[in-house]
Amino acid sequence: MASPLLIDCDPGVDDMIALLFACASHEIRLLGVTTVSGNVGVDKTTANALAILALAGRSDVPVARGSSRPLIRSVRGGAADVHGDNGLGGVCLPPSDVAPDPRHAVDFLAETVTDSAEPVTLIATGPLTNIALFYARYPDVASSLRRVIIMGGSIGPGNVTPAAEFNCWFDPEAAYRVLTDTGLSRQVPNFMIGLDVAARVSLGVNELSVLRNSGRVGAYVADALGGQYLNHFRDLDGRDTMPIYDSVTVVEAVCPGLITMAPASVEVDTSTERGRGATEVHFRSSNDQIVEQSVGVDANGEKIVEVILERLAGGDLPSCA
Ligand code: RIB
Ligand code: CA
Repeated sequence: MASPLLIDCDPGVDDMIALLFACASHEIRLLGVTTVSGNVGVDKTTANALAILALAGRSDVPVARGSSRPLIRSVRGGAADVHGDNGLGGVCLPPSDVAPDPRHAVDFLAETVTDSAEPVTLIATGPLTNIALFYARYPDVASSLRRVIIMGGSIGPGNVTPAAEFNCWFDPEAAYRVLTDTGLSRQVPNFMIGLDVAARVSLGVNELSVLRNSGRVGAYVADALGGQYLNHFRDLDGRDTMPIYDSVTVVEAVCPGLITMAPASVEVDTSTERGRGATEVHFRSSNDQIVEQSVGVDANGEKIVEVILERLAGGDLPSCA
């Protein structure tokens, strides 16, 4: 029986791959997508989410627009230098002819979780603003989640500052509420997959070529990856490989075991100092685990890439009109 899933995201090139992989995975039932400002503004992340679902032939999946700014302090800019001004590497997907759901993302999350006959898994691949507001406004509903899987934070250094990973840097107070002090009556099992582990899932030019020759969806994905996104990472480390960070969250939901998790607690730095947005991970022995929280410590990157390519390129997606 496919398990119910919600995805909160800021598409975003790697968010796009996560969404398409979810659409191509029969193990899950995608109940809806919510959007947040992060890589680019929420108007663009919302339009991108709608267009990505239309590309996958899944315009039946509702998209609800969320927060346009962090909880407390706005930051200058997002990640257009990585994902392009439009958030998808400059690729213009055919626009969706479906309007966003009229509800705010937080209300949409609450009503969808409430209406689900089975406990829902919530995935977050952008800044955690919507999730923090969901926890604050609907704590009892949030406490009924099956689990939360987050791409964010880092055991080691950051990517947007030496200390902080982008999603936690963009809204540290929200990350603190979701990763450090949820305030929920029941601690929802929480799986944080940080930068260091997510970066082990990377595509190279060979995978680009497979995608490009695999059909309409794969060609769009290859175009989104192969321009500014590839150049950013090539300039960063001189290699022709691109991490597809966000996809690890859906992999964890669909193919448990490909990501190795360890019990840990996470402290998010909400100071205004240089460490702002940093995630301090304290590994725990499983018997003294107060908070049911785990952090990714390893990923079988090769197998994950194989599964993603197989599903994106293998025609699992409904044929696109
Ligand atoms: O640090 C990587 C994260 O920031 C990913 O979610 C990427 O999409 C950006 O949002
Ligand atoms: Ca993202």
